[in-house]
Amino acid sequence: MPVVTFTSETLHRDVRAYATAGDTSTVLSVALAQGVKIPHDCRDGECGSCLIEVKYVEGKPKMAIALTEKEKIKLRELGKITAQQIQDAETNDIAPPYRLACQFIVREEEIIIHFTGEPAGA
Ligand code: FES
Repeated sequence: MPVVTFTSETLHRDVRAYATAGDTSTVLSVALAQGVKIPHDCRDGECGSCLIEVKYVEGKPKMAIALTEKEKIKLRELGKITAQQIQDAETNDIAPPYRLACQFIVREEEIIIHFTGEPAGA
């Protein structure tokens, strides 16, 4: 079962969410269902408001890293991903440190999401 832990200076305590296995929920939709207010606007990978920092729990399996084209473009514009990190994600399944919550599909993995509460402020 996918496990997502949200951390932020804007939360009183960390929020742990269990997403449905095989679901195609985004990190943003899982967050909003839990009342976690990650800033967002377009929900379509274009505004960059939902920038998050992602950490993977040590020793837990990681899934293939799939970045959408919109996500790659916006993360490059925000200076949050390099061409090398995109290549590493696509060919070596090495996760980049920043993602867009509205583009990140939750998979069968355990992740920790940090956001600052400021749009594009992770
Ligand atoms: Fe606009 Fe995610 S809400 S990029």
